[in-house]
Amino acid sequence: MLDLIHPMTHWQAIGRYARWAPSPHNTQPFRLRVVDRERAEIVFLPRRGLWIGDPLGRFTWLTAGIFAEICSIAAHGRGLELETSFEHVPMYRNGDFETPQTVARLHLTTPTAPVVDLDADLVLKRRTSRLPYDGSSCPQEILRDLEDEAARHGHKFETRSDGAAIGWVVELNKQALFNDLDDDALRTELVKWLRFDAREEDLLKDGLSARCLTFNGTLLRSFFLQHRFWTLPGVRDLVRAVYGQTMKGIGTIGWLRGPYADSEDWVIAGRTMIRLWLTLTRHGYYWHPYGSVITSENARLNMIDYLGLPGEANGEDSVWLLLRLGRSSEPPQSRRAPIEDVLLCGS
Ligand SMILES: Cc1cc2nc3c(=O)[nH]c(=O)nc-3n(C[C@H](O)[C@H](O)[C@H](O)COP(=O)(O)O)c2cc1C
Repeated sequence: MLDLIHPMTHWQAIGRYARWAPSPHNTQPFRLRVVDRERAEIVFLPRRGLWIGDPLGRFTWLTAGIFAEICSIAAHGRGLELETSFEHVPMYRNGDFETPQTVARLHLTTPTAPVVDLDADLVLKRRTSRLPYDGSSCPQEILRDLEDEAARHGHKFETRSDGAAIGWVVELNKQALFNDLDDDALRTELVKWLRFDAREEDLLKDGLSARCLTFNGTLLRSFFLQHRFWTLPGVRDLVRAVYGQTMKGIGTIGWLRGPYADSEDWVIAGRTMIRLWLTLTRHGYYWHPYGSVITSENARLNMIDYLGLPGEANGEDSVWLLLRLGRSSEPPQSRRAPIEDVLLCGS
């Protein structure tokens, strides 16, 4: 057993990248359980799930795809191949929010020739930028790179850079977000993942921090815990105006669409998403997902209508991610659980 946790094992090295996988609200719901030198499992911790906002686990399966893809890129960086087989058992079966669930089995093999892939160090550089952007549109050659990468996985990446569409989408996101925050159950689920000060971040090393949201922690705490006050007429408009300030300088919005009907699709969507995100990072650009527009069905359908997108054909061609992309100053780095917590050794 000692041999398995030796720092030189490949899993130890792969885990150092996997721990930086992005997740909604930075919940970090996956662990890498080492079975032996060649085999490991991706384990979902339902306590870190978002079963109110995402009862089917769409974004969570997608995050599993992100985690698996990062493991694969890290393995390629070490000259290895990684075979991944997912177990598509529904999450939260029989209302179980406690029992860890193995969602994928991984097997390291030695390829006959090295696998060319994205540079694994991009995983360490990638961040979400919620800062104002610099006003420029994302250059065509970068957009083409993203479109090509999406197409390789059976998805379409599409963008708009005109002021009218950008203004409309920013307003839609604001409405969807504030509608979510007015919902008691959704707000309570989110509050669990908010970190209002450095002490909370240091203790828990996860969640969405006021620091990363670039919002004053005391005000953020008050907004969530004295929510009635902040929704009074007049006060509500002020809050929305403050949030709007962070959305300045957007030159391009983009969305991803493609098959998104079941957990197999959601995993592939996650793999696609992180490859595009790392490609963007390679070009020195950032993005900021607008998750509320996707999780709120009304907002999503409004967006499809406004952008004139084709029908969704029963999930065969769904819009599953909306985001703004561009250049900003360097955003704050969010926290992660230490490698000792991410890498589980033994059965
Ligand atoms: C599927 C998915 C949806 C996300 N949706 C949002 C969102 O709606 N708003 C937001 O500010 N960040 C969103 N994020 C970004 C995460 O909050 C972010 O990845 C996490 O806090 C870790 O921070 P980092 O990306 O800077 O490492 C999303 C991330 C993922 C993977």
